[in-house]
Formats: sequence, structure tokens, C-alpha cells
Amino acid sequence: SLITTKEMFAKALKNDYAIGAFNVNNMEIIQGIVDAAKEENTSLILQVSAGARKYAKPAYLLKLVEAAILDTGLDIALHLDHGEDFDICKKCVDDGFTSVMIDGSKHPFEENIRLTKEVVDYAHSKGVVVEAELGKLAGVEDNIKVDARSATFTVPEEAAEFVEKTGVDSLAVAIGTSHGAYKFKGEPYLDFERLQKIHQLIPDTPLVLHGASTVLPEFVQKCNEYGGNIPGAQGVPEDMIKEATKHGICKVNIDTDLRLAMTAEVRKHLIEHPEDFDPRKYLGPARDAIKRMVQHKIKNVLNASNI
Ligand code: G3H
Ligand code: 13P
Ligand code: ZN
Repeated sequence: SLITTKEMFAKALKNDYAIGAFNVNNMEIIQGIVDAAKEENTSLILQVSAGARKYAKPAYLLKLVEAAILDTGLDIALHLDHGEDFDICKKCVDDGFTSVMIDGSKHPFEENIRLTKEVVDYAHSKGVVVEAELGKLAGVEDNIKVDARSATFTVPEEAAEFVEKTGVDSLAVAIGTSHGAYKFKGEPYLDFERLQKIHQLIPDTPLVLHGASTVLPEFVQKCNEYGGNIPGAQGVPEDMIKEATKHGICKVNIDTDLRLAMTAEVRKHLIEHPEDFDPRKYLGPARDAIKRMVQHKIKNVLNASNI
């Protein structure tokens, strides 16, 4: 059924595994993900960005997620990813989402608290849980110096004050990840010391890792081999994701890896079968590739099989 993340996170926090939170915007992506989760007998989060909501239209996504639950019988949380203001969070709560993110990370600390609290008050009154973000996720273009970058990382003491003052259900932290396919120029680096400190100060708060795709080399190579051009793409190594789940990370956000898996397979199919023009011929294999990739993550990286 459609559930909130409350129990999912409580169990994940206690047992050092993480729930996969996958970004969705069409039928094949949703089917690939939930079919993987079904085989691994796990619950999961399907999340929708403002962009995805606009692309697919709210009603289609809601109904596709309902259909996924009907078809698989899985427990799924439907989550708004990076809501930027009260209005979009309210719309999603009213639409039946079970979880929303208010991303006030671009605002000063006090304004982030005020905005988050406003969303928490509304969402909680409707039985919906809220994720907030403190600290800024650096893009690779901001990756000038590690020093300059770490200035935007989450300050542990602020995280404690933030959670206390907002009553938020989970908190996204900035410890060195970033969105997209170009996360690190040199060696991958996450500030685990900082993560541990945050987790020590707010041990009961589920923490969220955004920008957590591994940018699997298999898919990058396949894209490049079949006409793509994404040189130097690099993500968070799987060992680092595993490590993060031991220090309070309960939700691992994945979008880029889905995009790469899907695109690699579509590129390959179209090059190898120039005679095909039925979308099912290339979207089918793309859906299968998503399923395999998601199943691998649930089982081998997030440690969330049979939960
Ligand atoms: O956090 C960003 C997610 O990857 C969603 O991306 O805004 O392009 O849908 P999007
Ligand atoms: P990736 O770009 O690493 O997949 O991160 C996705 C994300 O954080 C969505 O909120
Ligand atoms: Zn994100």
C-alpha cells in the first residue's frame, strides 16, 4: 500500500541499511524499479521532482504509482523531491503524496527553519512526513577547492538545532555529494567524520543522502560506445554508500544511475537494430536494465533485501 516513510526509516536506522529513493517520470522507469523491489521483497520510495511533475503531469504519476502498488502489492512511499516552496509541498500533500521534501537549503539558516516549520505544520496535520535539507550540495563547477566546498557542508550543531526547532522527520545532509554525473574531479571524497558527528547529535533522525548515484562505469562506457559523449563522469563509489548507511543514512537518492542505465540501453539497441522503430523494442530492454541495476543496489549496496 501507499505508506509514509516513518516505519521504513525507523527499521533502517536501527539495522544499518538504507531505503532506495528513486526518481521517476515515466512508466518504464517505474516498472523497472518496482519489479526489482518486488524480487528483493523490499519497500521503497518513489520520488518526483518539480520537473518530473511538470513533464509527466501530476495525475499520470499518481496513477502510475497507484498501478505499481496494485500490480506488485509493495509498500511504497510517494515523495516530492526538492520542493522549493510551501505551495508545491501543499499541492503534493493535497494530491496524496505520503512524504514531501522542502528544500530550503538555499536560504539563510533562520529562513530555512521558518519555511520548513511551515511545511511540517501543514504536512503533519494531514499525516504526511517531511524531509528538509541543511547545507548545500556542491555541483562540480563549485568544486574549486575542497576547503571552499566544505564551507557549504552541514554543520552538526546547526543540524541538531534545526531538527529541534522544525520537528522535521528526516534531514538531507551535505557531506560532499552532488547531483548529476560529474561528482568528483579527482578522488571521490565524503566527509564521514562530519556525518558521524551529525548522527551522534541527532541519533533518532533519519539522514538522507542526495546525489548518491554511483555513475556505474558499465553504463557510462556503453553510452560512449554507442554514440554518446559523457567523458569523465564519476559518482559515489558503492563502498562509500555502504559506509554511509552505518552512520544514520536511511534514504539514498538515485536519479542519474536510472538515466544512464536507460540511455545506455536505448543507444545500444538503436545502433544495433537500425531497422526497429517500435518504441517497445528499445524501451523494453531499457526497463530491464533499470530493473537489474536497481536490484543490484537494493541487494548489494543498500542491504535492503527482505526487510
Ligand atoms: O535532484 C535532482 C533530481 O535528479 C531531479 O532532477 O529536476 O531534472 O527532475 P530533475
Ligand atoms: P543523483 O544525481 O546522484 O542520482 O542524485 C539524485 C538526487 O539526489 C535526487 O534528489
Ligand atoms: Zn537531490
